[in-house]
Amino acid sequence: MFKTRGTFITLEGIDGCGKSTQTEMLINKFSELGVDYIQVREPGGTAAGEAIRQILLDNRYSLLLQTELLLYMAARSELTEEIIIPALKAGKVVLCDRFTDSTLAYQGYGGGANLEWIRILNNNATCGITPDLTILLDLPVEDALKRRINKADRMESKDYHFHQRVRLGYLELASVEPYRIKVLKATEERDSLHFKIWALAEKLIDDSKRAF
Ligand code: TMP
Repeated sequence: MFKTRGTFITLEGIDGCGKSTQTEMLINKFSELGVDYIQVREPGGTAAGEAIRQILLDNRYSLLLQTELLLYMAARSELTEEIIIPALKAGKVVLCDRFTDSTLAYQGYGGGANLEWIRILNNNATCGITPDLTILLDLPVEDALKRRINKADRMESKDYHFHQRVRLGYLELASVEPYRIKVLKATEERDSLHFKIWALAEKLIDDSKRAF
């Protein structure tokens, strides 16, 4: 693991938790204030990563758990080395929609893959970098299902109990790393939720400026 100058922020939560809306609001704020940032998503963010995303989310494929896990890792390797690390080295704020915690929550807690194995793979796929701040938007699965408007993709199509395990898994991860993973209620009104997310991001960005 090595020290970079940038700030690495990730957003996490079950499908339908409102990450996209909050990401949009946060980058609008970054743009307004002239923050030097990039926004990426997982799986995706590179040409190969987006192609892998299509396989992962396509309902026509029924993938083995380890196939699914390794494909998420492959997309993560590409994104980390090609985009995230260079941006952090250049001192930028990197805002990533999902990262290593998603694999622990979905394939680990949700799917039953060994958590230690996932941690080892995550460490390899990311060259050991970890987010400085992770915002976990917590939402009951019942509420998430009510919010869905589009046809469910391959991951969303997994049953209620799977998504419930994912939600509880995320909360367990947050309880183990409370300094990094901040849990916010996704049921909160979107402007006040944005205000809380911005407050956390702003503090971190200010602190990182002071450190250099
Ligand atoms: P998105 O719709 O939030 O972009 O995420 C794509 C789907 O992939 C979502 O259902 C969560 C899932 N996912 C995993 O199962 N494991 C992972 O490691 C990542 C990054 C996403």
